[in-house]
Amino acid sequence: MRNVPGQAQGLVSSGLSGVADGLGAGRGTGGAERTTARIAITSGKGGVGKSTIAANLSIALARKGRKVLLVDADFGIASLDLVFGVTPEHTVLDILRAGMRPSEVVIPTPAGVDLLPAAPGRYEAANFGVVERAALRNAIDELSPSYDVVVLDTGAGIGASVIELAATADEVIVVATRDPVSIRDAYVAIKVLAMRHGLRRAHMVANQVENAKEAMGIVSRVSDLAKRFLDVEILTLGTVPRDPNVGAAAAAGQPLLVHAPNCEASFAIQRLVPQLDADRARFG
Ligand SMILES: Nc1ncnc2c1ncn2[C@@H]1O[C@H](COP(=O)(O)OP(=O)(O)OP(=O)(O)O)[C@@H](O)[C@H]1O
Ligand SMILES: [Mg+2]
Repeated sequence: MRNVPGQAQGLVSSGLSGVADGLGAGRGTGGAERTTARIAITSGKGGVGKSTIAANLSIALARKGRKVLLVDADFGIASLDLVFGVTPEHTVLDILRAGMRPSEVVIPTPAGVDLLPAAPGRYEAANFGVVERAALRNAIDELSPSYDVVVLDTGAGIGASVIELAATADEVIVVATRDPVSIRDAYVAIKVLAMRHGLRRAHMVANQVENAKEAMGIVSRVSDLAKRFLDVEILTLGTVPRDPNVGAAAAAGQPLLVHAPNCEASFAIQRLVPQLDADRARFG
């Protein structure tokens, strides 16, 4: 049911056997068919911490033994190359324009996560049309069976390129901060996914929070709206504190979990993994 934009479809889909063993842990067990879990990180509003969480959640998953592909799905802006301190030779544009195989474009990172790089500063990549967006979804589909988990770091907004891609995921993680615009935009992103693609549940991460009360306020505001108007269940995946180590890691050109593995934000992001596994086992 993936890749059918505009059609009501379940996001919580697919043969998720092995769910109880953890996200994407079904591979290779007793000859069972490998299952790849696909997770989209989205937000509506920009600059709330999607890429920070996508990159470091991917590393946390890899450290748990999962084979992870991280897709920089902010196709014309890109940030994950800088986050990981790598210089990709090729980008998604080479798949579309030069006919390269998606696997030839993917690069390993020192943090143990494979990266499908976007094309920073390329206007055409920021404005991919219907055909190109479909080709990229096909490219991600082609890569997926080689991985336990595929993490999609979407761009901001509720444009077609963001929503269509998020709609291919098994799990959607919505990131919001205490900024009221971010809270409203988180709801709007969930609304578009629910109305156009049949989303029934989403996970929320409250980021850059000062304390537990603030985090609860962020999640409960989105959750109340989603329950009342959309019949979408919001699961609290976790909260990540505002932490100066996040900026310090970026300045050092390293992911947070590499630069400061023992800081509060790193601990918080690592805690998302068992919670996501538990949610999928419970609601999968
Ligand atoms: N928990 C945190 N504590 C402190 N700073 C943070 C935290 N999370 C993110 N930031 C900072 O917020 C800024 C935006 O983060 P990030 O790039 O991850 O957001 P984004 O949602 O991916 O943005 P965009 O919509 O532009 O893709 C960065 O400068 C990052 O260092
Ligand atoms: Mg980003």
